Amino acid sequence: MIIIKSEHEIELMRQAGAVAGEILKELAGIIKPGVSTMEIDQFVSQSIKDQGMQAAFKGYHGYPASACVSVNQEVVHGIPDAKRKLKEGDIVSVDLGTIYKGYYSDAARTYPVGQIDAAAQKLIDTTKESFFAGLTFCRPGFRLSDISHAIQERVEADGFSVVRDYVGHGIGQAMHEEPQIPNYGPAGIGPRLVPGMALAIEPMVNEGDWQVETLSDNWTVVTCDGRRSAHYENTVVITEDEPLLLTVADSGNISRGRR
Ligand code: MF3
Ligand code: CO
Repeated sequence: MIIIKSEHEIELMRQAGAVAGEILKELAGIIKPGVSTMEIDQFVSQSIKDQGMQAAFKGYHGYPASACVSVNQEVVHGIPDAKRKLKEGDIVSVDLGTIYKGYYSDAARTYPVGQIDAAAQKLIDTTKESFFAGLTFCRPGFRLSDISHAIQERVEADGFSVVRDYVGHGIGQAMHEEPQIPNYGPAGIGPRLVPGMALAIEPMVNEGDWQVETLSDNWTVVTCDGRRSAHYENTVVITEDEPLLLTVADSGNISRGRR
């Protein structure tokens, strides 16, 4: 069952999401060569606390930090580490979530570390653009898999691949609610979208093949071929017309002008 949110619930999620979006924006000014993945987590943790909110990931299935920080061939769920310092040319994905009055937000971005090569920049750009391709279908009347299909088409048009083993999800009073939202598959199947659905849409895109594996820390997911991966995620609410983008700073909470 997909839980439809009331206006009041959406307002709480909007506040949760605004903090997540602002932190992700500020991280762009903090991420540079020499910064450790633990320092990124400390910034995220402190910023969430300063806003009077809780970090959604901390303690989730035993996860030890407030953010997932995944470098280069790491896809998602990288555990912050004080010894892991970013180097010029790396790309780093930061995924974080907030809880405000019991309501969750979830969002991610991939950042360049100093100067990066053109292929890495294209991977980051295509991943973001694939999210916005999916967002085109976030309106009443479309079906869930229309989003999935649009993301896959956009990714594969640039020769990249979509991770299959991890998917987007409904979100609300839990981080993971129904439905699951794959970033691949045929269009036109699954539930029809209706106002009040809240969805965390999160393409994870590999430079090479889509296969991934989990390291022996039982968290860090890496590409099997060792090539790089990028991630872009927002918490989205379906309305009668334009979807609300709860986790994009300065969006005015709508997708205005992004298509
Ligand atoms: N953002 C991730 C998701 O969408 C959750 C991170 S897993 C955690 O599923 F354990 F770190 F929370
Ligand atoms: Co998510």
